[in-house]
Amino acid sequence: KKVLYSGMQATGNLTLGNYLGALKNWVTLNEEYECIYGVMDLHSLTVRQNPTEFRQRARALYALYVAAGLDPEKNCIYYQSHVSGHAELSWILSCFTYMGELNRMTQFKDKAAKHADNINAGLFTYPVLMAADILLYQADVVPIGADQKQHLEITRDIAERFNSIYGDVFTIPEPYIGKVGAKIMSLQDPTKKMSKSDENPNASILLMDDPDTIIRKFKRAVTDSGCEVVYSEEKPGICNLIDIYSSVTGKTREEVEREFDGKGYGDFKLAVGEAVASMLKPLQDKYQQLLKDKKYLDSMIKMNDEKAQYYATKTLRKVQKKVGLTERI
Ligand code: TYM
Repeated sequence: KKVLYSGMQATGNLTLGNYLGALKNWVTLNEEYECIYGVMDLHSLTVRQNPTEFRQRARALYALYVAAGLDPEKNCIYYQSHVSGHAELSWILSCFTYMGELNRMTQFKDKAAKHADNINAGLFTYPVLMAADILLYQADVVPIGADQKQHLEITRDIAERFNSIYGDVFTIPEPYIGKVGAKIMSLQDPTKKMSKSDENPNASILLMDDPDTIIRKFKRAVTDSGCEVVYSEEKPGICNLIDIYSSVTGKTREEVEREFDGKGYGDFKLAVGEAVASMLKPLQDKYQQLLKDKKYLDSMIKMNDEKAQYYATKTLRKVQKKVGLTERI
């Protein structure tokens, strides 16, 4: 079986964007691949975290993966920080990555602008650690949202550079970006991506929002002064809602347009809200239940940490040998 690898940062509350852009596709691709998913806690350190909350959030993310339908007994779901190979490979790969390449990363530019008081070296080398995550497991495919595409490209460049010097060490990974839902926009400003760090609470649907909150946020979603539900460039707000609805229901854009032909924005927004709320309800229930079962989650975490460690060590030893580091006696 081919290997699928992906992960999310354990920062903030996950949004509908994280779900439709990534998590939902992970579940769909689950059967086809040997799947490995990381709770990317090392990446989260690029932004200051409150230690207690951070630890809780990382566990919550683990539970959320499982609640969304990933099976920790079949897939490997583990904590990035529990496998030291990530940091070790990241160092080696950073010696094969140019400052100029990292300087071109749009996410770094965006984050540096947002956290001007803390532009740390980790934020700059973030994509190298991400490359290490992916390459350590020899991933064939990496399902991500559109905003991570550039990071996947640099991963491929680093891997190809390394392979051209040392032979076929790394599998060159392909991105998997869904046709709908790869870029969910803010409900308050449809030219901006929906993000967990948005200050405006009405801009994002959080995966743990209750049904009333979800419906209220959709009702308040910024659209335009028109009234027809059609997918068109002049209507970025409506396009976003159509994308969300179509991703949730599996209907095509045309089918959605037809369904709401002759109906107004109000009806449409309510339908989107209801569809999202009922999609999230089972996930929320399962999540609450999982967080209560400490023993089960702990045993899954322990087993999978070991599994991940095994895969990672294999690649790491190979890389160390190739670059000429002295082998252990
Ligand atoms: P993170 O935690 O920012 O986002 C997790 C996933 O959610 C997707 N996403 C979105 N998709 C659609 N619309 C949105 N508005 C939206 N917002 C976020 C992201 O594209 C991502 O797929 N660097 C990664 C974490 C990571 C990783 C990896 C991923 C670290 N190492 C190795 C894959 C492989 C990130 O920032 O995710």
